[in-house]
This record gives sequence, C-alpha cells and structure tokens, in this order.
Amino acid sequence: MDTLDELRAEARAGGGEDKTRKRHEEGRLTARERLDVLLDKDSFNELGMFVTHDCHDFGMEEKKFLGDGVVTGYGTVHGRLVYVISEDFTVLGGSLSKKYAEKIALTQSLALKNGAPMINLKDSGGARIQEGIDSLAGYGMVFMGNVRASGVIPQISVIMGPCAGGAVYSPALTDFVFMVDSRSYMFLTGPDVIREVTHEEVTFEELGGAAAHNSKSGVAHFRCDSEEQALSMVRELLTYLPQNNMEDPPVVVHKKRTGLRGKLGSLVKQVRGGGREEALERVLPDNQSLPYDMKRIIAGIVDEDSFFEVHRHFAPSIIVGFGRLEGMTIGIVANQPAHLAGVLDTLSSAKAARFVRFCDSFNIPLLVLEDAPGFLPGVSQEHTGVIKEGAKLLYAFCEATVPRITVVIRKAYGGAYIAMNSKQIGADLNFAWPTAQIAVMGAEGAVKILFRRQLASSPEPEDERRQLVDQYNLKFSNPYVSASKGYIDEVIKPSETRSRLIAAFSSLRTKLEKRIDRKHGNMPL
Ligand code: HXC
Repeated sequence: MDTLDELRAEARAGGGEDKTRKRHEEGRLTARERLDVLLDKDSFNELGMFVTHDCHDFGMEEKKFLGDGVVTGYGTVHGRLVYVISEDFTVLGGSLSKKYAEKIALTQSLALKNGAPMINLKDSGGARIQEGIDSLAGYGMVFMGNVRASGVIPQISVIMGPCAGGAVYSPALTDFVFMVDSRSYMFLTGPDVIREVTHEEVTFEELGGAAAHNSKSGVAHFRCDSEEQALSMVRELLTYLPQNNMEDPPVVVHKKRTGLRGKLGSLVKQVRGGGREEALERVLPDNQSLPYDMKRIIAGIVDEDSFFEVHRHFAPSIIVGFGRLEGMTIGIVANQPAHLAGVLDTLSSAKAARFVRFCDSFNIPLLVLEDAPGFLPGVSQEHTGVIKEGAKLLYAFCEATVPRITVVIRKAYGGAYIAMNSKQIGADLNFAWPTAQIAVMGAEGAVKILFRRQLASSPEPEDERRQLVDQYNLKFSNPYVSASKGYIDEVIKPSETRSRLIAAFSSLRTKLEKRIDRKHGNMPL
C-alpha cells in the first residue's frame, strides 16, 4: 500500500513529468503553480485530490490520474476566503469527465453555502470524448452550479489555455472573464471543424484569442499580457467586491503619502492651482463639440489610483468599472466623448446594462457620468437591435435598487438623457455641471427640424439659422431649465464634484428600496 505522502506526490505530479516540462517550456504555469500565484501564501486547502474517473472504454483503465485533471479547494486572497478550481491540461488535455464535473459542482456548492467568491482557472479541451454523454451530463451540472450562484457570490473565470467546446459556457455564465494574450483561446468549434463546415480558414488566435473576445465578441472583460498579470488582476478585482450579495464591499482606504514628500507634493499642488479636483475645472474643451477623455474626469473624482476598468476593449463609447470614494466601492458608468462622441449603440448599451446588473446584485452603488448625444442612428443599428439593446440598459437601471447618482457633464440629449440613470428611471440624486446641455436634441438638429420652412424662404438663411441656434441654446442647452423643473437636484462646479459625491453617497448608505415580489422579470434579452 502506498503511503499518503506518495499518493499526494502522485496527485501533485498531474499528467507526469514530461507533460509538465513541456508546459514550462511553453512558458506556462501548471494548475497548482497558478493557485500559488493567485492565493495568499500557504493558504490553499485541496479537496478531492484522490478522485479518479470511472470510464472503462477506449483504454481509459490505463489512463487514471489522481485528481482527474482538475485541482479544487479553497484558500484566501488578501485574507478573505475564496473557492477555486484549476484545470490541469497535463491530464488528458484538461478534458472534463463526470467525476471532474462532480469535483467542480461540489466546490461551487461549498462556495455558495459559505458565501465566498468562486474563481475558475480554465485550461481544457472540453468534454472528455471517451466518456461521451457522461461528460455532457457533467457540463450540465457545472452550468447549473454557475447559474445557482449567479447574483449570490461573485464568479470569476480566467482562461489560461484552450477553453474548447462545452468548456466555454461555464465562464460565459460567470461575472468576469480574463484572457491572456497568445495563450488562451475560447471556441465552441475549432478551426478544423470550421474549415470543413463553412470552408473558412481561421487561426486559433483570430477565432477565439484574447483580442477577439475582448474587442469583438465581448465574451471576455480583461485582456492580460501574462498568466501572472491575469492572476494579480483577479486579486485586485476582489478588493472591490463583497464576498456575497448579503455583504457590502470592503472599505479600502488609500494610504496618503506622509512625511516630507507628501507635504512637498501638496505644496506644489497649491502653488500650481490645485490638485486633481481643481483640474476638473479645466477638462472640458472651450468648444462644446470637441471631444475629451472622460477618464480624466473619473481620475479627478475617485480616490487616487482606484479606477479598475472592466471591458476596456469592448464598445469603447461607454466606460464601465469600479472605483472608490473615501475607500467605498462604487460602480461607474460613463459615456466616453473621445470615442464616437460617447454615443449609445447596441454594444455599449448591452455592456453598460450587464455592469449595472452586476453592481445591483452585489450592493455596489452606481455613479453615472453623462455626456452622450443620444442613440446612434443608422440602418445597421436599427437592424442589429438598438431598440432591444437600449431597452436592456433601461431595464437594468429601472430594476436597480442600489444608491444611484448621475452627474450630467455636458450633453444629455434625447434617449440618452432618459437611459443614463435619469430621475424618472429611479436615480436618487441627479447633479449637473454648469456646462450641461439637457435637451431633446442638439440645437443644430432642433433648428433644422423646427424652422425648415422658415429658413427655406429666408433672404439670409445662414444668419437666421445661427440666431435660432443661439436662441435654442439659451433656452435649453444648459442645466437650469431642468433644475427649475426638478429633474436636476443641484448644479455643481466641477471642482466640487468629488466632495459632493462623497456626501451624497454617504447620505444614501441606508437607502432601502423594495420591488414587488415576483419570480423574475422578463428582461428583453
Ligand atoms: C479527450 C482530449 C480532449 C478531449 C484534448 N485531449 N482534448 N482528450 N477529450 N476533448 C487530449 C489529446 O488527445 C492529447 O492527449 C492531450 O489532450 C493534449 O491535446 P493536444 O491536442 O495534443 O494539445 P494541443 O495541440 O495543445 O491542442 C489543444 C486543443 C486540441 C486545441 C484543445 O486538443 C483540441 O482541439 N481538442 C478537442 C477540442 C474539442 O473539439 N472539444 C469539444 C469536445 S465536445 P495525448 O494523450 O495525446 O497527450 C464538447 C461538447 C460540446 O465539448 C457541448 C456544447 C455545449
């Protein structure tokens, strides 16, 4: 009989020395090394180390590996409990058997019962082909576990290598997907099958690499340079999140620089005319129709270095991500005028809707920074469902009960005014900068429609048009009409924004809002 130590060593060897060496030569970490990087030192407790598959076909009796290709258990990240699975490609390509699926399902149910995040490190060729229907049944169990946990505990997936066939749907059901450049691929059907069926030639990278899924499909939320970077970003992401839907996110206060360097820094800021908050007075260009980078405004509002962007490469006309205000996590949804003027379209609406729903599930207050000329016009937008996708954003905001604040920075035109967290769809407090233009549409467009006939018969159409545009701007392109009607609670200076938001979010900390009980709504998917 082998000793326990020998059995443990055998399990830890995964698919054997040769396969492990090959992984290292390719510059990849093993399943257990990845857990060492992810978790706090010596905090990992393994479960199911001696589980093996029970398949007897296709010579599988000869291919039994202790642990069966997936390492499962729990540990800590920054001292907080997390449950983990790490797929081991050295064992039969990380392919999923029924027993392997049972290990994952058990870990999912422990994470759910104990209210701790579930982190999945994926590296698998999909359903274990030798097991046939048993492995498909296994995937069903895993997907069920993902959906049961959805909205109760944060679920994070990191694609470390291939993630093929049935393996793709578990990450797709989780909250955040990380991918590693030139290392990870996600696809339902690989290039060989695609060549046979559709005669298209495509590489793994083009089909389902980190770039493709971050910027084209939107399946992935984070694109990383290396496995180590992905794992360290997961650790950082967790600092913004609560353990489960019954808790609040942790308060993480930025350590201010003290001592001589800190004092010198603030002196220099005073001499130069203020720090980050004062700089907000100078972000907007004088010409109202010129673009600027909304991230500069975000940087002037949140605690120093606390912005953690999500879905950076996808639908960049909207920005979503986590930040902190005096250590408290907030979720930020902001139009990006530097890209397509910050317009709402099919992809940006769906991107923002998903983020809003995540924040609402996990007690993360929402801040909306608005500068949007409306929904993008066009046949392709109409035909790809801008109505349905825009409805998703409306639905997500209408449904959200977490504290919600909007700051209108510049344009809030038409549908964008309503959809970007207006008071009428449930925002708690709505502020506007003096530069805000809250109107059905821009002055130029409005004048064209309202005065078409008058301008056509005018002896000086250009002069008259300019006068009418000025009149329209005077009447509507400011925040004061909306403030007089109560749609805006307060017009605030850019440099006051951070302090006003800190006070406002702290006043909403005890917010209690209930919706009528129902099984679930019918979101326009
Ligand atoms: C059993 C598998 C396997 C699988 C890989 N292996 N995938 N064994 N079932 N699904 C084994 C290989 O036979 C090989 O064993 C070892 O893992 C390493 O695989 P390689 O092909 O040598 O590695 P690599 O060249 O890096 O290619 C990786 C790969 C490729 C791209 C993932 O293996 C591949 O295309 N696999 C099949 C992917 C796929 O079509 N999966 C779908 C399954 S059906 P040896 O012993 O030679 O080392 C499915 C159901 C869909 O998932 C359900 C949808 C909801």
